[in-house]
Amino acid sequence: MAITTEATSEAVAGPAAGRRLTGFSGDPDYFRFKEYRTFDPRAVVDVLRGRSAGVVFRGAVDPEICAELSARFWESDDREKRTAVAPSYYLGTYHFHKTTEEYLDESERTTPALEEVLGIERDPLTEFYDGLAGALAPQGVTVRRAEHGGRQACRGLLRSWHAAGEYTLDPHEDSSQCAHPGQADFEIQRVLDHQICALNICLENGDGGRLALWNIQPDEASKRRLGLEHTGSPYPMDTLDGIECQWLEINAGDIYVFNGAHIHAVEPNTSAGSRRTTLAGIFGFVDRDTVVSWT
Ligand SMILES: [Fe+2]
Repeated sequence: MAITTEATSEAVAGPAAGRRLTGFSGDPDYFRFKEYRTFDPRAVVDVLRGRSAGVVFRGAVDPEICAELSARFWESDDREKRTAVAPSYYLGTYHFHKTTEEYLDESERTTPALEEVLGIERDPLTEFYDGLAGALAPQGVTVRRAEHGGRQACRGLLRSWHAAGEYTLDPHEDSSQCAHPGQADFEIQRVLDHQICALNICLENGDGGRLALWNIQPDEASKRRLGLEHTGSPYPMDTLDGIECQWLEINAGDIYVFNGAHIHAVEPNTSAGSRRTTLAGIFGFVDRDTVVSWT
């Protein structure tokens, strides 16, 4: 099923020569978003086990729930603003470029505000991970929050990117940030031996705001050449020349999961006055019997 490939032809020498990405690219059956009308956690297990690059469950979250969570997010006094790397408003926290200690401190600090927003009867994050746990239980697999020293990772991240330009979130992958030396003691780094899965639950979106996914998981040599081995971001556009890319339209209520080791990006929302807000998380196997989640 899997093939390892040089993404651009050796014969073509252009500005990206020397920066060409090498790594894993999947075959056509693997590299397409499987589409469903309802949430089926077995399709998520296919992404977890590396059988599929991604899956989208269209309209899986009720419009009333999406609207309620979006409203609570924008009304929250605890909503924060990120200016570097990926300008966004967010609630909850992310592990990118933090030490384990800093990330867990932030997780603890932001939990009350996050729970205030997510505190509705059927919050989609709980439904998602409960569904996944139900699908994996017969296989003897436990699904839980990532932890360290008796402390738990944040359970979800609400966010809305607002940068304009070609992409509102630059081309990047999610695996390199799991190799950060400051998190060497954190169990999430063991996900690198398996598949790293990105979860997004779209709460609101106007026109645009599509996800781009490239058919390459850069190898270590490519990451090092670009100095991205601990960040995974951003991949210059010319390094992506000639690499197959698929675009996924995203609407409120869609739940999508994909292999975050593939380079991906998000285009800006283009309709005036509308916003693109998602509820997100990351998860993956850390050993044969355990899937952990974090943000
Ligand atoms: Fe990502």
